[in-house]
Amino acid sequence: MAKKKIVFECIECGHQDPKWLGRCPSCGGWNTMEQITRSSVACNAATGNHESPGLSSKGTIMLQNIDISEVPRFSSGFAEVDRVLGGGIMRGSAILLGGEPGIGKSTLMMQIAGSARITNNSTESGKILYISGEESASQLKMRANRLNINSSNIEILIESDLGRILDALDKSKPKLIVMDSIQTVVSEEAGKVPGTVNQVKFCGHSLISWSKNNNAAIFFIAHVTKEGVIAGPKIVEHMVDTVLYFDHSNSGIRFVRAAKNRFGSVDELGLFTMEASGLKEVKDPSTLFLIQRNDGMPPGIAAVPVFEGSRALMVEIQALTVPAKSGFSRIYSDRIDNNRVSRIAAVLEKNMSLRFSDQDIYVNVAGGMKLNEVGIELALACALYSARTNIPFPKETAVAGEISLAGEIRPTAHMERRIKTAVEMGFKKFIGPNPVETMHATSKNRIYTGSKNISESIKLIFSKP
Ligand code: TYD
Ligand code: MG
Repeated sequence: MAKKKIVFECIECGHQDPKWLGRCPSCGGWNTMEQITRSSVACNAATGNHESPGLSSKGTIMLQNIDISEVPRFSSGFAEVDRVLGGGIMRGSAILLGGEPGIGKSTLMMQIAGSARITNNSTESGKILYISGEESASQLKMRANRLNINSSNIEILIESDLGRILDALDKSKPKLIVMDSIQTVVSEEAGKVPGTVNQVKFCGHSLISWSKNNNAAIFFIAHVTKEGVIAGPKIVEHMVDTVLYFDHSNSGIRFVRAAKNRFGSVDELGLFTMEASGLKEVKDPSTLFLIQRNDGMPPGIAAVPVFEGSRALMVEIQALTVPAKSGFSRIYSDRIDNNRVSRIAAVLEKNMSLRFSDQDIYVNVAGGMKLNEVGIELALACALYSARTNIPFPKETAVAGEISLAGEIRPTAHMERRIKTAVEMGFKKFIGPNPVETMHATSKNRIYTGSKNISESIKLIFSKP
């Protein structure tokens, strides 16, 4: 008989310790350590049947003998989701979709179930199983009606017991599984309370190994707390191949972003809006983050093309400076890092003889996108300069470039693509770092002017022609 060992485990992050502690040394949570009895059962959960053709007697397989002739990915039916995943849903992969309650996780998964193109030959089943431990069948049906989904491939299972879920999987053999949500699944073998580390570990591993063995893709929906972490056990992030977060900006745009991706990059952003009939992809996002103005630009605003994954978007940075309310200057900026704002303000103060140290500085990004790439620094400098001097940034002008502490404008990645985006959006003038050799194609557009430092850029941008 396996020897039982008593350990204490944090219900938030899964950290284990031989003794009880008031505060978890790993995640810092108070009163989160619980006694568990570790037996060999939990560890064996993931050990499924990994038989695959070409296995040698040693249980290994020659790399050159691995057959990948079957198309490894299929489309979710949404270009935005496919791009974030790195080119579609990988067969046999486990994907976590996290987001606050009400953001639209169940809606997105129902829409994917309705539009995924799993198979292009009629011999394969291409079945989809939507398992819900949160809603009733009629609630799911009402949502599907609202979304205009009546695919004959979707089966529904209202269940939270792991054993019965695995039975249903064995019978129905779906190729796409949605588990809504991972926090609701329970197994008697891992204790009785849903959502604990043990439950999530055990049930997650069992479902993932079923999917891997059957070459099915599985999506786990997970709730996140206001702070943006997976509610309860965070451990599930380590078990899956891909972690997607569904978030929204204050302008109502919803973003799907990969926080971890074994099969693609993590820089891509999928954009959606929530309409009366479900989530709608935002195909041309370039205008979303620019405010259209028919008359002149008010002071404190500058435009910059930014990079989100493989896509360039025009974004408007806004700044406001007012005399400091308390004796010292403060920065209020939740879309661009405070340290970056304060560094750029210091460079302006030094090079342009402008005082920022007695000002409260407010910075915002239209559309609510968070920006953390260096290419925005020249635009941030322009917005701050314009706010402080009350001279508006000229209409139809865009800028991009990094600023060094010495006030130099440094070359920035993807300059060609940024200029192209600005041209497409009707911008007539573009100021950035001194052109490098690779840039002659776009310099032919004649909208580009390079400058070597901040004072030269400011002169180029703000002086009247
Ligand atoms: P839901 O997908 O249930 O969110 P989650 O699973 O992340 O908790 O739905 C989120 C919200 O979207 C809900 O308040 C209603 C709204 N909604 C629409 O506006 N249009 C629709 O077509 C649907 C299905 C939902
Ligand atoms: Mg839901």
